[in-house]
Amino acid sequence: MAEGQATGRGAMAPGTEYTIEALASEERTFPPPPGFAAQAVANDRGIYARAEADLEGFWAEEAARLDWFTPWDRVLDWNPPDARWFDGGELNVSYNCLDRHVAAGRGDKVAFYWEGEPGDQRVTTYAQLLDDVGRCANALKALGVRRGDRVAIYMPMIPEMAVAMLACARIGAPHTVVFGGFSAEALRDRINDAEAKLVVTADGGYRRGKPSGLKAPVDAALADGACPSVEKVLVVRRTGQDVTMADGRDVWWHDLVPGQDAACEPERMASEDLLYLLYTSGTTAKPKGIVHTTAGYLVGVSATHRYVFDIKDDDVYWCAADLGWVTGHSYILYGPLANGSTGVMYEGTPDHPAPNRWWDIVERYKVSVLYTAPTAIRAHMKWGPQHAAKHDLSSLRLLGSVGEPINPEAWIWYHRHIGGERCPIVDTWWQTETGAIMISPLPGLTTTKPGSATVPFPGVDADVVDADGHSVPKGQGGYLVLRKPWPSMLRGIYGDPERFRETYWSRYPGLYFPGDGAKRDEDGYFWLMGRVDDVMNVSGHRLSTTEIESALVSHDAVAEAAVVGVADPLTGEAPAAFVILKLGAEPSPGFGEHLRQHVAAKIGPIAKPKTVMFTPDLPKTRSGKIMRRLLRDIAAGRALGDTTTLADATVVEQIRDASAAGKDEE
Ligand code: PRX
Repeated sequence: MAEGQATGRGAMAPGTEYTIEALASEERTFPPPPGFAAQAVANDRGIYARAEADLEGFWAEEAARLDWFTPWDRVLDWNPPDARWFDGGELNVSYNCLDRHVAAGRGDKVAFYWEGEPGDQRVTTYAQLLDDVGRCANALKALGVRRGDRVAIYMPMIPEMAVAMLACARIGAPHTVVFGGFSAEALRDRINDAEAKLVVTADGGYRRGKPSGLKAPVDAALADGACPSVEKVLVVRRTGQDVTMADGRDVWWHDLVPGQDAACEPERMASEDLLYLLYTSGTTAKPKGIVHTTAGYLVGVSATHRYVFDIKDDDVYWCAADLGWVTGHSYILYGPLANGSTGVMYEGTPDHPAPNRWWDIVERYKVSVLYTAPTAIRAHMKWGPQHAAKHDLSSLRLLGSVGEPINPEAWIWYHRHIGGERCPIVDTWWQTETGAIMISPLPGLTTTKPGSATVPFPGVDADVVDADGHSVPKGQGGYLVLRKPWPSMLRGIYGDPERFRETYWSRYPGLYFPGDGAKRDEDGYFWLMGRVDDVMNVSGHRLSTTEIESALVSHDAVAEAAVVGVADPLTGEAPAAFVILKLGAEPSPGFGEHLRQHVAAKIGPIAKPKTVMFTPDLPKTRSGKIMRRLLRDIAAGRALGDTTTLADATVVEQIRDASAAGKDEE
């Protein structure tokens, strides 16, 4: 692959088609620039050997960077799949993120530069954030929240969201954040599974120039006593739109929080006390409440944040994710604040009011480290490099990627047009369940290869195995597994220990199975190949095919549905639905759109099938399992326009043939 070609592609006109395989043969490698390596936090290869030789010692050293009310007795207690880290220790996450920095005289340091989509700005120092969190924590108590009670947070990306999360951590009330793009039904299911006592929300937020509504979905979720555990709703006024406030239940943030005392004693939490739940999609229709506990999680996110993003005191670090996802939890909030670093938070979309919005933010705040997802990079590629070229991006020194495999073409574009060919790129593989980054370059040490997440983080024992659990030779593909425990690992699925064992620990007893396919090359580098289960990755968001299928069949007119993920140049994967209607229902493009809206209402707009294909049949194995592989081929073989199609004769034939053959594959 010649240099010139990469430029040519990068400079393509907006809207020009490109394929995600276009640069699959990229073979250049990128050693750390010497100047970068010389100043890097991790600049000694010995870190890998040290962690391998003494896993507990390595993590104990990282844990010692935190402030403990009571030191731990034991670093690790490992009875697979149950891990206990830093048992006997007591600490508080909000204290570690705030009080100790203020006590060390760093209260005036900026914690967040926040920017709303309409352009409003707020700068919050550590001292200010500590006060805000104290007031909010006291407000939560005034609303009856006690240590151990769960709090659901359903908010736009405004500073109050970070404040609410930290306030929960301060009083030992685990939060469960539900991404603001989820529907009322999805919110209700999560509130009920977590039995949340309080919901913190806002009237709405700004997205694509318009106020979006959040209070109305909360009202719909709670209607008719559908969430019996919820006693109160705390509402931030963000957009000023009209909302209904239920008497005795709903309280305005501005009426309650500012009047509270700023001082709130942090709870002494045990290391293994629940810090938060975060729901994520699995292979069944019911989302899983991933359990993260206090000490190990904070140790994991702070250490990985410091080493992988090479964090220095003067960095301005921007993780352009939403706090509603694990990336936001670990790398907007807890990791960066534990490290006392300065962050940027942005409420809205990258192209509002114009596609240069991000680059304008980078220039104005002098962002030095930027962390985003391949899908966003591909969107910027599509809009063209001229938007970034208008801005001074010379403050950037390191770039990160997360959420899905980054195609080499996007990697090279990011490197060239955003990183000015001087910034290392860290492609970080991890999951909601792992809590923290597991496979990633260390930017001062690792030579990167576009498209590879490179090597496991120190102390992480990753392997690629075959169906029987044997390591595959280098150069071959198989299933990714993790062999040793790590501090930020999930401690379970809330309320469902059986599902926890079954999902992650039963395929290869004693090994953690993340559900990803991977290949290791001759140099031992890991190349992630996507999910190997019925989970798809749409714009870096995890969606369950089964969850979308059950949303479809919940419609009166739908008899049966199958959903598969197909490759999409922008979103990585996109859901494609095959639908059998009940007798009497008429397949039509209009009805396809109606079903897409139905899925949006059931789960959220991100889950809307990109295509709906009406079909008289679905290919099944003799045992009645839908042959998704065949459907993927059919869906992939058709142009994926944003359309509804009727299965044409050839598709119907293929489906019928396959059904008749009834092969027991897939
Ligand atoms: O398939 C992997 C993919 O995203 C999944 C985890 O999704 P989620 O829990 O929503 O967390 C996303 C943010 C951490 C993984 O099982 N994935 C995540 N990062 C990468 C990735 N696939 C390839 N390369 C990555 N860097």
